[in-house]
Amino acid sequence: MVEQTFLMVKPDAVQRNLIGEIVTRFERKGFKLVAAKLMTISEPLAKQHYQEHDGKPFFDSLVSFITSGPVFAMVWEGEQVISVSRKMMGKTNPQDAEIGSIRGDFGIVTHRNIIHGSDSPESAEREISLFFEKDEILTYEKNIDIWLT
Ligand code: TYD
Ligand code: MG
Repeated sequence: MVEQTFLMVKPDAVQRNLIGEIVTRFERKGFKLVAAKLMTISEPLAKQHYQEHDGKPFFDSLVSFITSGPVFAMVWEGEQVISVSRKMMGKTNPQDAEIGSIRGDFGIVTHRNIIHGSDSPESAEREISLFFEKDEILTYEKNIDIWLT
């Protein structure tokens, strides 16, 4: 089933020049980028985005981290993209994430774990609509051959 998911390069990875590396992984996998923007998240948006964690011990530092600098917010489309992109990201704690996954390859600690990705169809829908207007999400065909010559 073709789905859409919300992925975000977090402030640590933007600072470490990993936007291209991360985008490349999803492009090479075969998923389609349908929306993207470099932006700074406001505190209210951060709290809404992470509302399921409100009240947990790490909530305040999480909100402060995610608002601390630019993020690269994206919508990706493809077959099973929600669960497959979670696999490509690796476990929440980079020390538990497989080498070869994004967090496993680039992260060291949970509070700076490089990337966010929606964890279910419900979260994907909620998060996409929090970050993007409907007209910012594109519908288009890809055909490499006609762009070669
Ligand atoms: P969570 O939704 O559990 O992880 P994931 O990003 O894999 O869906 O947590 C959201 C973010 O909160 C997580 O990416 C990093 C941060 N976090 C902490 O800082 N400490 C923690 O103990 C946990 C569980 C998460
Ligand atoms: Mg989560």
